[in-house]
Amino acid sequence: MSSGSLIELLDAFEGAAMAAIESAGDAGALEAARIEFLGARQGRLRDLQGLLGQATKEEKPLVGRRFNEVKTRVGAALEARQRVLARPVRKVGGLDVTLPGSRDPQGRRHPLTQTILEFKEIMGRFGFSVADGPEVEDEWHNFEALNIPADHPARDPLENFYLAAAQVAARDGSSSPPRLLRSQTSTVQIRVMESSPPPIRIISVGRVYRPDTIDATHSCMFHQMEGLLIAAGTTMAQLKTVLRLFARAYLGQDVSIRFRPSFFPFTEPSVEVDMSWGSRWLEIGGAGMVDPNVLRAVGYDPDQVTGFAFGLGIERFCMRRYSIPDIRYFTGNDLRFLSQF
Ligand code: DAH
Repeated sequence: MSSGSLIELLDAFEGAAMAAIESAGDAGALEAARIEFLGARQGRLRDLQGLLGQATKEEKPLVGRRFNEVKTRVGAALEARQRVLARPVRKVGGLDVTLPGSRDPQGRRHPLTQTILEFKEIMGRFGFSVADGPEVEDEWHNFEALNIPADHPARDPLENFYLAAAQVAARDGSSSPPRLLRSQTSTVQIRVMESSPPPIRIISVGRVYRPDTIDATHSCMFHQMEGLLIAAGTTMAQLKTVLRLFARAYLGQDVSIRFRPSFFPFTEPSVEVDMSWGSRWLEIGGAGMVDPNVLRAVGYDPDQVTGFAFGLGIERFCMRRYSIPDIRYFTGNDLRFLSQF
């Protein structure tokens, strides 16, 4: 007999056995079904077992696996049905009060929301409080004050989501300066320093927008955590320690963090930060010592205070922790994904 027809026989057996178990209305009927399908001496599964020997050597693993699977499933269904039928029935006014209740589905927080709450908690332990800023920004906070001059390529309209000026003007009933969806949370550094004197120790978490080509690791909207510490005598060593401690607190002791010299207009010196992911490195953000031009832009005296800043991509941390292979899962709204967190 070919393995194809053996598999078909096993499929048919499973279907018939499951139907008989499900429709058994009392213990007697269930016992009859057990004897018919799983009985040790004359049961139908036993008959099928006798046929397994006819499978060829190559077919054996496949047929054997399916046989065991069917046996386990039917056995489990039988036990489950036995438990249901053994339940004492207590009727109150025609209502079986022993029936299990129906549960209302329970929602849960989105994995990124969970990650953000945990980031805030960890940074809170390091003494950082949380600041917020708007997602629709002006060019001063997104660029100018961050030492990104008008001719800098990062300001190219094609690299940013500018709001249509006409629309904004119509809404305000006036001509208004250009606005854009912020491309980085560094904007909040400026807003905080403009409104409070040093020392400063804040993080800011939120959405940023860039017209990137979407793929497994890039999205046109993602989340960043910005950090800013301004105080006399701040050092790069402190920055590196904070980032290392943060990464270990969220990802565990086995994560390595590496710093590569880089350039950002708002920091000097600047570094790019990578984390280990298996045998590879993945970029998670940028950091550096706050550029004196930025301190001057907000009215601080660079001779009195120094500070460090960093900006990290939140999705990548969450992806590494839970081995999520594609950033698009976060916005796919697939309950099979979301209900795992
Ligand atoms: N704003 C940068 C970006 O989005 C990340 C960054 C780099 C933030 C260095 C910082 C920093 O605060 O110091 O690519």
